[in-house]
Order: sequence, then C-alpha cells, then structure tokens
Amino acid sequence: MNLVVVSNRVARGKANEPMTGGLAAALLPVVENSGAIWVGSSGRVRDGFHKEPFAEIEALGSGALAMLDLPAAHYGGYYEGFANSALWPALHSRSDLIRTSQGDYLSYREVNAFMARALLRFRKTGTAFWVQDYHFLALGAELRELGVTEPIGFFLHTPWPTSSVIEGVPHHHELVEAMLAFDLIGFQTALDCDNFASYVREALGLVVQHDGVVISQHGRTRLAVFPIGIDAEKFASAAAKAVSHPDVSRLRRSLNGERLAIGVDRLDYSKGLVNRIHAFDRMWTMHPSLVRSVSLLQIATPSRGGIEAYGNLQSEVARLVSDVNGRHGEVDWTPIRYLNKGYGQAVLAGLYRTAQVGVVTPLHDGMNLVAKEYVAAQNPADPGVLVLSKFAGAANELDTALLVNPHDIDGMARVLAMALSMPLAERRMRHEAMMDKLRRHTIQDWFADFIRALQDIQSEGTTQAGSALWQRRATHSIARH
Ligand code: G6P
Repeated sequence: MNLVVVSNRVARGKANEPMTGGLAAALLPVVENSGAIWVGSSGRVRDGFHKEPFAEIEALGSGALAMLDLPAAHYGGYYEGFANSALWPALHSRSDLIRTSQGDYLSYREVNAFMARALLRFRKTGTAFWVQDYHFLALGAELRELGVTEPIGFFLHTPWPTSSVIEGVPHHHELVEAMLAFDLIGFQTALDCDNFASYVREALGLVVQHDGVVISQHGRTRLAVFPIGIDAEKFASAAAKAVSHPDVSRLRRSLNGERLAIGVDRLDYSKGLVNRIHAFDRMWTMHPSLVRSVSLLQIATPSRGGIEAYGNLQSEVARLVSDVNGRHGEVDWTPIRYLNKGYGQAVLAGLYRTAQVGVVTPLHDGMNLVAKEYVAAQNPADPGVLVLSKFAGAANELDTALLVNPHDIDGMARVLAMALSMPLAERRMRHEAMMDKLRRHTIQDWFADFIRALQDIQSEGTTQAGSALWQRRATHSIARH
C-alpha cells in the first residue's frame, strides 16, 4: 500500500530536537519506518494559493516529508480561528472559549480544499490516505469531490465530547456530515467513539450498526477505537542512557537529596496547569514536612501564542507560580521550577527518570503520551509514581496509576502526598502492571492496526468510492459555503 499521511504539524527526522505536541513526536518514528509520504504545513504561508501548491520535499526514512506553504489569506482563519478557537476548545469541552467567525470557517474549508488539491500529486495506484486530527475534518469530503476513489482514513487525537458540546461549534452538522466521507474514523477511547456515534444518531438521524458501521449519503464509514501507544522499550533505554546528559546531571546535582515531581505540558488550558499548581500549594500547606523536601519541575512549552485564551493562561500560570514560590520558598529553596521552553525526547526521558512523581492532570485529554513516557522512563528497580487525571485517555490503560479528579484540589494534594510516601513494593507492582500494558500495545501496533483496518476496507471492496452511493452523491456536492 502506498500510504500518504496528512497532519497539520509534521516533524523533521531529528528525534532529539524539541517537538511541539504529542502528535508529531509520536508519528515521526512510525512514519519514518513505514515508507509513507507525510504531508503537512511548512509553518510558512504564501500568496496566490490558486496556483500549484508549493511543497518542500525531503527524505524521511524510506519515505518522504512534504511541507506545504498554506494560503496566506486563509491561514489565520484556519489555524488560529477555526481549528484552535472553535474546534479545539469544543473538543476539550470548553465551549465557553469558542471565539470564531463565519470568515474563519470559510478559511478552514478553503485550507481543507487546498490540502486536497495538493495531495493529488502524491496519489499513485494503490494509494491510501490517512488524515490526522481536527485540522482536517473536511479533507475526506474534499478529496472525494476531486474524484479520489482510494480509501481514506481519519484519526482524531483529541477527545470527542458529548453532542451538546459539539453543537456549540458553528457548522457542526455540515462538518460531521463531511467527516462521513472518510471510510474509517478512529478514536482514542470507547467514550469518544460512543459520543461520536450518539451525535451521528441524534443529530444526523443515521443508524450506527453494532459493528460501528454508519451508512450515510457518502457510503459506509466504520467507527473504531485505536488507542495510541509509545515505543516503551525504546523510551526506557533512552531514559537509562540520558542520565549522563548535561541537563539531567545538572538537575540531579541541584536536588541535594530533595525529591522531585515533574509536569511536562504544552501551555494549554486543557492541561489543568492552574489546578495542578493549586494542588501543590495545598500540599505544602497541609504537609509542612514536604516544604524543602519536595519540589515541582514544571515544563510548560508555549503554544498557540496568538490566541487570547493562551496569552491569558500564560500570564495566569506565571502569576500563580510566582505567588506560590513567594509564599512557600526559602532563601535557598524554590518550590516550583517553572520553564517555558521545549526539550527533546532524550532529555525528557532523563528528566522523567529523575522525578519520583510524574504529574499528568489534564481536565480533558485525548490520550496524553507524557503519562506513558513517564512510566516507560522509570528505573524498574525503584520506579516513580504516576499521578494521572481520570479525564486523560491514558487512564483507561494506566489504571494502576494514582488516578485523580483534577477539579478536586484537596483530593489531588492528598494523592500527591500519598505518592511521595508509597512503599517500594507497591511502586514496583503498579509500575510493572503499567509497563506490561505499554509493551503489549505500542505505537507500532497502533499504526499497524489502523492500516490493517483501512486495508480490510479496501480488500472487501467497501470503500465509499467503490460504492454506488458515492457515485450518485458526487453529482450533488456538500453545500460548502
Ligand atoms: C495536540 C494536537 C495536535 C497538535 C499539537 C500541538 O497534540 O492533537 O494536532 O499538533 O497539539 O499543537 P500545535 O497547534 O502547536 O500544532
């Protein structure tokens, strides 16, 4: 199968460089080995987008990476406007943060249509397309409009919330209808898949069969769950090696016997940073013996800075950190070490291994690979404890972590103190159970499972393009504007 993978953000082939977001970092090693062509945004824009799309193409493993300049007139409306100020907040159940306009939606659709045109040049006999994430919900429909008959899969890295939340997104109906032009739609968890199926039933009035198949005006779409994993063995050995990295050894030296909790997140309101810092504040207040003996290293990588909600969050977190440090700090002790920059995977692996507690407490998260990486990075003989939000997709598999409700500050403070006093035998038991699950379901398995499901659709001859329904539908296109 000649595979074309599409995502807004792509990663170049240097795993040790800082990468923004779980998606690009997770996809890099598997796409690199698959021989696929990975197509995404170059991060640059260009005028005159009606002309031939401009792509910078370089080798990536046995395949290639194609980075497209997106249309200047529509990039802001597409990325900051609709994708990240309408879809992202809604997908994370924060409809109160939706700020968008009709112009943003039109730009989103234009960029989806532009991407579809750009993809035609990578289409060969036997091609399958695999579209990633909420930036390209309408890409399947756009490809069909251009006559693409090959299988098209889609995977959503974020949660899919309940219907009443999705209904807060302007044009939700049209968008979900367009999504049904995909042959296969993958979700991180059964809850996300069920929420989507409920919307399809209630808002679109369609039947979702027991096997997850929906028949729409486009043809058949299969809904299924594919929880994303990590390469646990590779991460574990990177962590063991990373102890000698200068940043990691400097951190160790600076601790002077003090214990460390670590949080690593994009600076995003879905990550629960404010609640987490309140919980540490409460922990130091409730357990004065932990003052000077436990500190938090919080890495918060700036993200989507042009959007007001992100700018506000950055100021709020910085104020809060400074307030907590001001109250609990001593002349020779800083409770929260707060860093606004990104680190490469190798250094992160070493930092995770140095910390006795990993704190992953999002309010909502599709999966959260930091949780999995923290576990894989531990020394099996003396592992740290993962404190994990029950609202992260990862909590389904990592159920022997200490699960918390990130809205319950007192509860989180109690659990953090518990994590710090957990006996070695219990830490080992919990860690082994989690490692076992991580080993049994790696990122390679995730990739292979999705591709297999897409191939099955192709070999059964049930792709939408192969069905008569689609041929009929092509004559009356989806109302786009
Ligand atoms: C999440 C999303 C990804 C996105 C990443 C970073 O992981 O699911 O699609 O790439 O965040 O966000 P950014 O807007 O910087 O690409």
